[in-house]
Amino acid sequence: MIYLRFPTHEDRQLIEDYKNECLTYDNVESIHGSANLTQFSFDEWLENVQKDRYKETVREHLVPAHTFLIMENQTLVGMCNIRHELNDFLYHIGGHIGYSVRPSQRRKGYAKQALRLAVQFLQEQKGIQRVLVTCDEDNIASSCTIEACGGILDNMFVSENGEVIKRYWIE
Ligand SMILES: CC(C)(COP(=O)(O)OP(=O)(O)OC[C@H]1O[C@@H](n2cnc3c(N)ncnc32)[C@H](O)[C@@H]1OP(=O)(O)O)[C@@H](O)C(=O)NCCC(=O)NCCS
Repeated sequence: MIYLRFPTHEDRQLIEDYKNECLTYDNVESIHGSANLTQFSFDEWLENVQKDRYKETVREHLVPAHTFLIMENQTLVGMCNIRHELNDFLYHIGGHIGYSVRPSQRRKGYAKQALRLAVQFLQEQKGIQRVLVTCDEDNIASSCTIEACGGILDNMFVSENGEVIKRYWIE
């Protein structure tokens, strides 16, 4: 059974390990659902995710969001970022929820469990009944995750740089 919890200063090493594993194995520059973990020092990142939870303190040009660690016992298996509202970019491309599972923990059902918890968080804590979840057209793992959680495909959106985004609603 997994659970979502807030990151704290004590998680520095867990999160550094998570970041290094994703960057090494995925060969990417940013990590989905991590609130741009790769772009800041740990202390700056933690301060950002704490500020971003509230309308009063969220960083400029962003909507309030919760960033959670996806935990199985004491193991950090993934991260998710849950947006409390949609702006134009999120409505077309980003959706309400971003998530990743670390490469060594994939294909164990963690993304499906985490997405269900994230949807439940928005519905129960934020009163949002229709949740938008998106993925790139060629991200099979993510589209399977969304569909397994009841996502209904609304449409495909083509971004300015030609990426095709699948937009799903979960009720
Ligand atoms: C997408 C991601 C979160 C899936 O995590 P996961 O924990 O491995 O997913 P699950 O084990 O819960 O599997 C979910 C579904 O995807 C399928 N799946 C997972 N990985 C797959 C793969 N590489 N190829 C095909 N299907 C895959 C599973 O079979 C399952 O579908 P099913 O219920 O129909 O059997 C993970 O691959 C990841 O972190 N990718 C990089 C970041 C990312 O793309 N995030 C999503 C952004 S939109």
